Amino acid sequence: MKNNTSQADIYAPEYVKDVFDKCSSRYIKFSYWCSFGFTERWRKQCIENMPVPATVTPSGYDLMAGTGEVWPHLFNRFPDIKTVTSIDISSGMHKLALDRLHKMRAHKIDFIEDDVFQSGLKDHSADFIICSFGLKTFNPEQHQKFSNLIARVLKPGGVFSFVEASDPKGWIFRPMYNFHLKRILPLVEKFLLQGAQDFSNIGQYTENFQNTEAFSEMLKEQGLEVTYKRYFFGCATGVIGRKPA
Ligand SMILES: C[S@@+](CC[C@H](N)C(=O)[O-])C[C@H]1O[C@@H](n2cnc3c(N)ncnc32)[C@H](O)[C@@H]1O
Repeated sequence: MKNNTSQADIYAPEYVKDVFDKCSSRYIKFSYWCSFGFTERWRKQCIENMPVPATVTPSGYDLMAGTGEVWPHLFNRFPDIKTVTSIDISSGMHKLALDRLHKMRAHKIDFIEDDVFQSGLKDHSADFIICSFGLKTFNPEQHQKFSNLIARVLKPGGVFSFVEASDPKGWIFRPMYNFHLKRILPLVEKFLLQGAQDFSNIGQYTENFQNTEAFSEMLKEQGLEVTYKRYFFGCATGVIGRKPA
């Protein structure tokens, strides 16, 4: 696995937190415009593809929630959700999420600002778990730990859907896509978004991550029912499924 950013461990929670604290104020616009709106479409598809929870008033988690980008899609599809507990390590992202909370169903959303692995989520506590674009900043060891957490925290019959930007292997326009990710985005970031390092590692994270295939296998090994998903020629991939009842 490549890790070219000087000597920094780009998977260390404190490093990732710092990246998102620095870029939080620009994250939503950057993510939308630099993906030509695709990130928003993939979030919507992530929610649309989640199996229906076993109860009509489900409670669940949005892990690596960022500024709550996925909530509008979630509440559109499941208006009777009881609570969403959102977890994110970045205080910058957290603050924006809280600002957004005031505009929507604040009474239905709790926010835990913490490393997902330290956040004390209880066994069998979730009717659903979602995660949009939170997988690539984990390495394989962290993915293993994360698959364990998902299996532990879901209630029997609980459902999940995750999506992540991926390397579209075999797609005719893959070289252009990778050029955009690894060359153009860091330049846009550097010259138009006021510097810092922020997203300049996004190509590196995506190249290392590849797609959700390996993570899907880890979830299967945890005894979950799993379906692998490809979105737009594999530029994003996902995994959906259920914990057997
Ligand atoms: C690319 S953003 C995704 C945000 C949002 N879910 C979306 O759809 O755009 C990844 C988020 O994961 C959070 N994150 C990364 N590692 C984390 C960890 N170990 N625990 C909790 N949050 C984490 C970051 O702070 C960041 O807000």
